[in-house]
Amino acid sequence: MDSPYSGWTNLRDISPIKAAGMAAALYLAYYLLYAIYATTISPLAKVPGPPARKFSFLPCIAMSLQGRESHAVRDLHARYGPVVRVNPDIVSFTEPTAWREIYGYPGVKKFKKSGYRQLRPGVPDLLTASGDDHARQRAALSRAFSDKALREQEHYFQDHIDLLLARLDEKCEQAQPFNMVEWVEFLAFDIIGTLAFSSSFHCLDNQAYHPWVTLLLNFFKSTHYVLTARMCGIFFPLVLAFGPIRHLRKGEEHLRRSYEKVRQRIRMADDESRHDFWTYISRQNEHREGSMSVEEMEVNAALLIPAGSDTIATTVSGCLYLLLKTPDALARLRGELARAFGCEADIAMAPLAGLPYLRAVVDEALRLYPPISGELKRAVPPEGAVVGGTALPGGTVVSVYALAASYDARNFAQPARFAPERWLAAAERPDWARDDRLEACQPFSVGPRNCIGMNLAYAETKLILARLLWRFDFDLLDDGFDIERQKVYVMWQKPPLPVRLHKRAVQ
Ligand code: HEM
Repeated sequence: MDSPYSGWTNLRDISPIKAAGMAAALYLAYYLLYAIYATTISPLAKVPGPPARKFSFLPCIAMSLQGRESHAVRDLHARYGPVVRVNPDIVSFTEPTAWREIYGYPGVKKFKKSGYRQLRPGVPDLLTASGDDHARQRAALSRAFSDKALREQEHYFQDHIDLLLARLDEKCEQAQPFNMVEWVEFLAFDIIGTLAFSSSFHCLDNQAYHPWVTLLLNFFKSTHYVLTARMCGIFFPLVLAFGPIRHLRKGEEHLRRSYEKVRQRIRMADDESRHDFWTYISRQNEHREGSMSVEEMEVNAALLIPAGSDTIATTVSGCLYLLLKTPDALARLRGELARAFGCEADIAMAPLAGLPYLRAVVDEALRLYPPISGELKRAVPPEGAVVGGTALPGGTVVSVYALAASYDARNFAQPARFAPERWLAAAERPDWARDDRLEACQPFSVGPRNCIGMNLAYAETKLILARLLWRFDFDLLDDGFDIERQKVYVMWQKPPLPVRLHKRAVQ
């Protein structure tokens, strides 16, 4: 008689190849059943989208690895409408109201952040803090981003721009073409170093990237790769092993350097003339209202450096490129600057804030080239929720992708056209853009978790742009910066923006 364990003995006799084949067959069977469920019975089955994206992460993974997922989601909305299932988990919206429903009040109480990771486990930074922790940190940091702080910090921006322009004067004399993106990045990183640590990265001085900056730029790409690999489920380690993750360890290096710099900064003697971020937070800590611990200051410094640098470099590069491609808009902006200022030395943040066409240029560049172009993931609570009239089961992830909402022809007429005038007051807006739904474009997000650096970003971008355009004429030497062909790995991988400069006669 057969032993009751003979079945196990037989199993042990199966060759590894056969076992692998059986495992693959089981996996395929499971996958097939899941595909049928996801496209027919699942509560999300009826949400429009390509069938493959409803049951498989593969299309999303493939586009993400190519740095093209933001573009792909934009194209899916063009085909399927304002609500699209972009992968088995995520539903994306482009209706302007979705911004408020998900990220504004009262949505923010219902839809919590999903998939965000703390820089240092156990110590929330502003981006990952929730509830009371977020409110307390936001209150503490908001002093450093107030109008008063910006006025007191303006000289930092002006001094760094002086240095940039001096370097570019030399470029003018050499009449050599060069990559403008590099110089805009040098400037943005030097400024954020000064604001975050009272210590510039000295990229402009040295005419080269500081190693820390190089490390950060590479880190974005590695982070993007890990986020993509996470969608591969059980194949995660395999995909990771072959990916460009060698820069990931440099993330640790960024944190270490940030912590060290904050501690150095805290040790600095009081100085009335210093107005970096910690000046405002330390003052508040003295009064103990809404205070922040040293560990929280450290992780927030590590957050503010990337959040406040590459985003600005993207916006300024985008404005320059789009203006150089649109001579009418450039001429109109120069006209506005010439009417507002007698000479370059008069150009300052306060008067720039009142120039409508300049603001329109920045808004339009942020629409076509939003620095954060991809998903801002929020989880539907267990009891489910309705967004834009679509009922969603608990656990679904919802998002607005800035690039998709801004290019949706239901929101903007001629969506791919750079037309700052669409942002002007109604009386000055061209007829063809009269029905534009401007509120669909929210590059800084909305609600209590929107970008804390928004005012700073507008003021900084406008100042850099105004002073550059006042002093120089630009020849754009090729179209390699074409936004349509660019890739996104968390941030845009900005290709070179090759220009030649000429000093303007107006000097
Ligand atoms: C054009 C430039 C910028 C754009 C388009 C931008 C965009 C955004 C967006 C979309 C968010 C929401 C992220 C989310 O929900 O996951 C955000 C948050 C944030 N941004 Fe910005 N940002 C810019 C510049 C800056 C600057 C200059 C700083 C600081 C110096 C900054 C610091 C932050 C911080 C700390 C948060 C987290 C806020 C919170 O959760 O309360 N950003 N930004």
